[in-house]
Formats: sequence, structure tokens, C-alpha cells
Amino acid sequence: MSKLITYLSESKTFFLQAANSTYVIKIHELGFPLHMHWGATVAPQSVDGLVVRRDRSFGPNVVPGDRLFSLDGAPQECPVYGTSDYRQPAVEVYQPVDGSRILDLRYKSHRIESGKPALEGLPATFTNKSEDAETLVLVLEDAKLGLSVEVLYSVFAAYPVLTRSTRFVNRGKDSLNIRRALSSSVDFTSSYANYHFLQLSGAWARERDVIVTPLRRGIQSVDSKRGVSSHQQNPFFALTELGANEEHGNVYGFNLIYSGNFIATVERDSHDCVRAQIGINPFDFDWQLDSGATFQTPEAVLVFSPNGLGEMSRQLHRFYRAHLLHGEWKDKERPILVNNWEATYFDFDAEKLERIAKAGADIGLELFVLDDGWFGRRNDDRTSLGDWVVDRNKLPNGLTDLGKRVNGQGMKFGLWFEPEMISPDSDLYRAHPDWCVHVPGRQRTEGRSQYILDISRPEVREEIQRSISKILREAPISYVKWDMNRHMTECGSAALPPERQQETAHRYVLGLYSMMEYFTKEFPHILFEGCSGGGGRFDAGILYYMPQIWTSDNSDAISRLRIQYGTSLAYPLSTMAAHVSVVPNHQVGRVTPFRTRGHVAMTGAFGYEMDLSAVSAEDRAEAIEQVKFYKQVRGLLMNGDLYRLKSPFTSNESAWIVVAADQSEAVATHVTILCQPSCGIDYVTLRGLDPKRSYRVVGTEEVYRGDLLMQCGLSITMPTCDFFSQIWHLKAV
Ligand code: DGJ
Repeated sequence: MSKLITYLSESKTFFLQAANSTYVIKIHELGFPLHMHWGATVAPQSVDGLVVRRDRSFGPNVVPGDRLFSLDGAPQECPVYGTSDYRQPAVEVYQPVDGSRILDLRYKSHRIESGKPALEGLPATFTNKSEDAETLVLVLEDAKLGLSVEVLYSVFAAYPVLTRSTRFVNRGKDSLNIRRALSSSVDFTSSYANYHFLQLSGAWARERDVIVTPLRRGIQSVDSKRGVSSHQQNPFFALTELGANEEHGNVYGFNLIYSGNFIATVERDSHDCVRAQIGINPFDFDWQLDSGATFQTPEAVLVFSPNGLGEMSRQLHRFYRAHLLHGEWKDKERPILVNNWEATYFDFDAEKLERIAKAGADIGLELFVLDDGWFGRRNDDRTSLGDWVVDRNKLPNGLTDLGKRVNGQGMKFGLWFEPEMISPDSDLYRAHPDWCVHVPGRQRTEGRSQYILDISRPEVREEIQRSISKILREAPISYVKWDMNRHMTECGSAALPPERQQETAHRYVLGLYSMMEYFTKEFPHILFEGCSGGGGRFDAGILYYMPQIWTSDNSDAISRLRIQYGTSLAYPLSTMAAHVSVVPNHQVGRVTPFRTRGHVAMTGAFGYEMDLSAVSAEDRAEAIEQVKFYKQVRGLLMNGDLYRLKSPFTSNESAWIVVAADQSEAVATHVTILCQPSCGIDYVTLRGLDPKRSYRVVGTEEVYRGDLLMQCGLSITMPTCDFFSQIWHLKAV
């Protein structure tokens, strides 16, 4: 493998060569790491002439008398506050010894390593063999404090992807407080001023709307202060060139591998330069770094696409499937499941569950999932979280017996947990009232009648691990749905001293990762699905441990068009759990055809969330067809390349195609949202096929060349009702 990182020692310049892209850093003569380029490939060469020296009024000067250099006008890799840069810093450190917040970080040394180091206690992308990637560790130092700030860059040979994180090492004798520790900060020149900020924002049951706004002077940002990445905002954003779309234009994507409070922020300064940053939210964050201690930030993933958003997503999807998803299940075809939640809510007994499982088994489903309500005295959502003991009133013969019966029907058995939670009405809370996240002397605010366990504490994690492991060992469990149904309030930990209380939120996330690491290592055969009231924690941090996530509590096919479209901007289809549920839909009351519900759900980790013994003969026949079809194309849908063809955000339609990596096969789906009378002649033009190969539309005699399919497209049947969908399976002949 050729070298991915080149260092030109004479001009002190680093060229980081990822696939089809280059990132250039130059160490300024004063020791500041400057950002010189990120975009299309550039061969290693001197960039000295590009370092701008310009008098900038009201931009104070680092060297007395040299008015031509101010940090306020310099494109930097690790900006700080207080020494002439007035934009948002990447790092802020408070020094209790004298109350100073000033930092002066200069280049000290660097190392170039093959492969990519793991990040202690944090999920991160990884190499499959050391030649996949190379890592630059840029060591910056504040000489007065003895503080080292290591900026880590890893580049991957096969993807236009770069990862970044920052590690602090306190080599000084005094304690320091890290108040801002972003994972990545990139300074773009003023040619980027006309770019747009794309964010994925939403709410419960309406996750990840795609919102695009022009960059304006000042700061634009999205963040979470909820303790989780949240339904409201996602730790992903993109900068898109003016006019960029699915296929054209430069796009820069930024994604944080983190599940807690984050900030993603872009500042267009007074000279129209653009600073793009992502990392832990500095809001309510203060980390005491004792002498000799280290602090590692989460990892940011940076992706460049010269061919629009479509290419950005495909690159991220491929990259995440190969270098983020983990464990036995990462590439395995996921079982088609049936979940009892919307079929029964808390009102079930063994007989009802067995009926649902049997009806699923009869049509070829492969996994039965018992959702909330099987433990303690949980007949509603006000009790028993933390008491992971089966409710014998509902299941007199226990979980092992139920699991075996489900297995007997030829189905695997899965179970729901909410490991991070505790109900005030629970034996666990009565035994350990201080185990929840709280602040003494303050009200404990309830959310869904529950508190959050303080899993920053090892003894709390151990008890949860013990009680849940017991069940996972006893019953034949092949799948776990890991839910999380409220956000943090009164953020404080009884285990931390006053001066460390603002570490609670991050320590919580570290505790979460430690638990997820434990369970996924201890039970490697179990397929874990993340969940947080639907898609409230749909992020790359969770995906490292759990290869799929319940995308939204909204199971309506039409709402899902937007939710899945938005989610697919950053995350692979195989990670998005999607189910067919009953109509009228429980969240929005909409009545959609069974067929459409299937077509939409199939584009994710597929399943049903209903009692299939209670559906009409017609719907049952349709379900049988869906399962048969899905089994034929499951591998393709999981691992193929996604091309978004029509956006439900901007049209009355939604369409997409998933194409096999070797272009031998594809599945295209089209949904018309509202049926329009006297509609025009419409086609769906496909993408990603081989223009020179011919494709048969499976199940018909129709054969077309890829060029025709991509220029003219497939004819859309005139809808005869609202929410009409069509699916085509194409195979190269
Ligand atoms: C929220 C999840 O998103 C639902 O699917 C379901 O598991 C409920 N929690 C159960 O309480």
C-alpha cells in the first residue's frame, strides 16, 4: 500500500491522502497548525505561498510589530481562545491556580503510525488490517502548563474519509479543567461562504427531518443538552455547495461517534471564512484533569464527496458497515421479526404471545420479540424498571418456557430491556434511592414516571449487568432490544465531589459504553437493537455496539418515508429497523395499503409489529409475498448502495434504489403520497446501474439496458389510491 500520510519536512506540511481526497496541514513558523486544504486529491508539494499574510484591523498580532499575522485570520486545526482568535475555539482549559483561561498551543512533535489506535473507553472506527489506514498524531503543547494536546487524524485508503479526535495529557504539576474539548475543527476559506448547513432535526416520532439553510454571518449550530444524542438533533451535519443535490456538488459530512450531549456548529466570520466544528457539548461540561491524567474526546468522522449527497451517504454507509459496525451480526442477514408492542402493549399473557409468535412463524418470520411489560408488576409504564424478574402473573411458566415454545415454532426469541432506568416504584429504587442521576435537596423530575440510573457508578452497572445477564443466560434469548425512554434532568452524581459534578453527563455515556461493551462481549451471539423511544439515540456511538436501531416509534409508512430518508443521509439501511404495523396507524391514524407498508419497511431491518393472526386473508397473503420477496433480496438491501431518487421533503413522491456492489441486481421502490387526478406521464429514472448491461424486471418479460433505465426510467403505474407504491427487482441478464 502506498503511503497515506506524507510529511514534507522542509515546509513542515502534512498531506493526508484518503481515497480521492486530500487534507493538508501546515505547521506555521510560529508553531500553529494551519488548515490548508480539504477536498479533491492534491499531490504533496509546498503550500508555503498559500499562507496568507494580511493586516487585519482589530485582529491583534501574535508577534509584536508583525501586523500581518493574527490568529483571527488564520485557518487553524486546533483553535484556542485568548490569543487573538475571536471565533469559536476547539479547546478551552481553565487553570485553577491563577484563574487563567488562556492557552497557547504550538507544535511540539508528531508521529505517523500505520493503522489506527482504539480510543480508550469510547466507540470508534477501526481498521480490519493495519494497511487500511494511517494515523497522524500531532502533538501540540502549552509550555507554561505542561499540557499536551494530541490531535489524531486517521485516513482510510479505501474511503474519502478522515477521522479526528483529541487527547489531552496533563504533564504539568497542577490540576486543569477542560471546559471545551471538541473532536474536530476545520477552517474553510471564504470561497465556502455560499455553502449551506444541512442538519437532521426532529422530535419524537418525527426524527431527522432534512433541513438546509444558507450559511450566514455568525454562528449556526445544533446541539443536545438532554444527556443523549436525541430525537431533536442528530450529531451529524453537512456543508453543501450552493446548488448541490443528490448527484452534484461538493459536500462535506461530519458525524460524531457519540451518544450524549454534543454540539455541531458552523461559524461564518466577518471575512466570510467558515469554521466547522463537532464534539462534546461544552454546555455544562467541565472535566477536571489532574496532574498526570489524560482525557480522550470522542471521534469525529469527516467525509468528502465531490458528487453530492448521494455519494456522501454511500461512502459513509460502506465505511460504517466495514469499519464501525461490530461483532458477529455486523454483516449477517438480520432475521425478520415480529414484535408484540403495538399488538398488545402491556396487556398480554403467554397464550396471546404464543398466538402472535405462531402467526408469524406460519408466514415465515424468524424471530419473536417480547417487548415491554414482562417483568416486575409492569402493567403500565409507571413501575418496575430495574426489577428484571419475570412477572409470573403474565407468564406463569417463566421466560425460559416461553422462549422454548417460541423456538419450538421454528422462531428465535428476543426480549426488551431498559437497562439504564429505574422506576421510583421498584424494589431496586426502594433498596438504592441514591442510585439515580439526581442532585441532593432538589426535586427528582420524572420522565415517563421514571428516573435514570447513575451508570457512571461501577456498582450500579454491576448490579444491572448481574440481573440482566442472569436472564440472558437462563432463557434462550437471541435478540435484545435496548430501550431508553427519558432525557436527563438534575444532572448530578452522588459518587462525584462537587468540583466534578459537571463530568456527570459524559461519565454517564462512558458508563453506558462500558455496559454495552460488557453485554456485547459476554453474549456475542445475541443481536442487539438500540432504541430510545424510537430513534432518540440513533447515532454512530450506539451503532458501534448494536448493528441496528429502532428508527422511530412512528411506524406509519408515509411518516417513515421522511424519517428513513433523513436517517439514510448518514446511516446505512441495514441499521434502520422498520416494521409493518396495523391501520389506522397508532401514531398518526393514517390508513395505508398493506403493500406500501411492506415496501417501506423492507428498506430497513425488516419486521412486523402486529398480531398477524388477526389480519384479513388478503393482508395475510400480501404478508406471505412480502416475506418471500424480502428473503430473496435481503442481502442486497442490507449491503447494497443506496441512491435516493425522489425526496418526500420536496415532492409528493419518494423513490429510491438499492444496487448490488457488482451492479448485477437492484431493488427500486416508488411511493406516490397523495393520489392526484389526471396526473402526467411519470417515470422513475434509476441510478447506479451499469449502463451497458441489460436488466430483467423480475417476474416480467421486460428487459432494459441500464442506460435506458437511467435516462428514461421505469414507468410508474397510475396510482388508484393514496399512498400507492411499486417495487421492482432488477437482475442483470
Ligand atoms: C419505546 C420503544 O420505542 C417502543 O418500541 C417500545 O419498546 C416502548 N418503548 C416500550 O415501552
